[in-house]
Amino acid sequence: MSETALDALLHETRRFPPPETLARDANAQPALYDEAAADRIAFWEKQADWLRWDRRWTTALEWDPPFAKWFVGGRLNACVNAVDRHVEAGFGDKVAYHWIGDGENETRTITYADLQRLVCQAANGLAELGVQAGDRVAIYMPMIPETVVTILACARLGAPHNVVFCGFSADALRGRILDADARVVVTTDGQFRRGSPTPVKPAVDEAVDGCPDVRSVVVVRRTGGDVAWTDGRDVWWHDLVDGQPDSHDPEAFDAEQPLFMMYTSGTTARPKGILHTTGGYLTQVAFTHRMVFDLKPDTDVYWCAADIGWITGHSYIVYGPLCNGATSVIYEGTPHPADQDRWWKLIEHYKVSILYTAPTTIRTLMKWGHELLEPYDLTSLRVLGSVGEPINPEAWMWYRTYVGGGRTPVVDTWWQTETGAIMISPLPGVTTTKPGAAMQPLPGISADVVDNDGEPVPAGGGGYLVLTEPWPSMLRGIWGDDERYRETYWSRFPDIYFAGDGAKRDEDGDLWLLGRVDDVMNVSGHRISTTEVEHALVGHPMVAEAAVVGATDATTGQAIVAFVTPRGSVAADVSSGDEFVQALRNHVAKEIGPIAKPRQILVTPELPKTRSGKIMRRLLKDIAEHRELGDVTTLLDPSVTDAIRGRMSESGSED
Ligand code: WTA
Repeated sequence: MSETALDALLHETRRFPPPETLARDANAQPALYDEAAADRIAFWEKQADWLRWDRRWTTALEWDPPFAKWFVGGRLNACVNAVDRHVEAGFGDKVAYHWIGDGENETRTITYADLQRLVCQAANGLAELGVQAGDRVAIYMPMIPETVVTILACARLGAPHNVVFCGFSADALRGRILDADARVVVTTDGQFRRGSPTPVKPAVDEAVDGCPDVRSVVVVRRTGGDVAWTDGRDVWWHDLVDGQPDSHDPEAFDAEQPLFMMYTSGTTARPKGILHTTGGYLTQVAFTHRMVFDLKPDTDVYWCAADIGWITGHSYIVYGPLCNGATSVIYEGTPHPADQDRWWKLIEHYKVSILYTAPTTIRTLMKWGHELLEPYDLTSLRVLGSVGEPINPEAWMWYRTYVGGGRTPVVDTWWQTETGAIMISPLPGVTTTKPGAAMQPLPGISADVVDNDGEPVPAGGGGYLVLTEPWPSMLRGIWGDDERYRETYWSRFPDIYFAGDGAKRDEDGDLWLLGRVDDVMNVSGHRISTTEVEHALVGHPMVAEAAVVGATDATTGQAIVAFVTPRGSVAADVSSGDEFVQALRNHVAKEIGPIAKPRQILVTPELPKTRSGKIMRRLLKDIAEHRELGDVTTLLDPSVTDAIRGRMSESGSED
């Protein structure tokens, strides 16, 4: 299709009914909504029955707001559901993962039987280190098969895992190890980035230096070469795991056994350990994975291009697909300008039929041009998914038109670390989609858009997205902080979950997500708190004050823009010097991780403040986005904004 044809499409009333063939055989039919509406609890029980339980539950839901327990009294093992069950059913030879590494020509094919052996060995190895049910294990690893194996081994032992994205710094890792009180850390010596090895373990050494209770660090050899070694604490994976027996007797755990925690940014400087448990989480991730992607485990090849270090990787690379016996692709790399058609090659080669990625990636691939897709046969694709941030209609249309050849449904899936699984999304065989809209809550999910007083907005109105009934994969709390859990999610509107997202309900009653309404930025689909970055900046000895805003960015959705006032005595000579700005960016990378590096740092002698001394972030956002300034009458010193604007136009932005 030509660019003009795409343009024309963008200006039509855009509605895309499901393709007939897909609709006819789809896992999710329209009746699913009626069934859930008739009896929501019975509906979820039916979905839970799809798992293997060692003991069935006695009560489906105990709801003592804001604390929920699902499938009370039930017992199951998450790893058995993900792996053993399929081997026992005769699918041992089925491929669980096609793994493609970012080193030179690396691939691995792992069947369900392979996975079972590897996981049993790893579970035996961790048990030898004393890991027992309830113990927390931190995982700081790149996208390699051992990461999935470690996650599943923890699940098998009932030991909650705490995966920390490898792009986080040693400081950030330390904070997460300490908060979770993890005693064992699993990591690698290094990782490959486009064939080049980069170290990983030094960050762990630095982090663990401040964690006296960590007794073991297990190290997978990934890149080779020398690594610093602490005898008595460090152990090579191959020494610990490879010689272990390849069977392991799994124990059945309570449905509410903690399965993992995942730290995520909130509105304060301290990340929150979001806690997920076993029965409800698995029920909903497996259900949504089957329905939203219309997964046909015998024929589909499914590729979720997220990182395992985030919730999308947990739910839709590991637990959802495995519980459904899917064949998945795991690609260690990310799109790179030097290898712009890599994705299309992979899709053709592996005959990927379901692709799940983030708008930021779609926009990057779009920027490189649809001509790059032309040499490849992408006709295997039949469902395309999007997650992580609002998808703009142009990116949605490009995705459907060029990647999906104009045939495939696009499912824009809204959810969060806290919700554990997809909550609002089209169903590919049922929903007539609109580019940019997440459409309707899934069957069994109750969502609404409310105004400041918590009143539902009428069709055509906008407000806050809320979830009005508990759902199986909901977070069970913030690790070690019930009060913060209550306060963050359940106090804005009593007994209703406040998601922190703005949303619009259109004239047809369909939902459009509009982005965060709090101080959380969404940069390339990564959640980063403005407060956390400000905190890092003011931690620098030369910074007096800092304000951070998320500015709209054509590729990354939002970009971090920081306004910084230097400390008095140094202010004069360092002020806007490049060296100072570079030092500050590196400082943020060290404190949080490279993902939190501001795109732009503006050094200014003063920040705009109200008469009561509050920094006017709204105004800074206007400046960062080069907008006309709104009302500045409450400003203490309006000339401050002019000065900042002047500097803004002088300074170029950095990558
Ligand atoms: C945003 C990622 C619009 C939203 C699964 C949410 C979205 C935050 C969408 C959660 C979507 C996620 N449309 N916005 N389809 N999906 N978001 O915890 O702001 O990393 O609150 O979970 O991402 O990010 P998190």
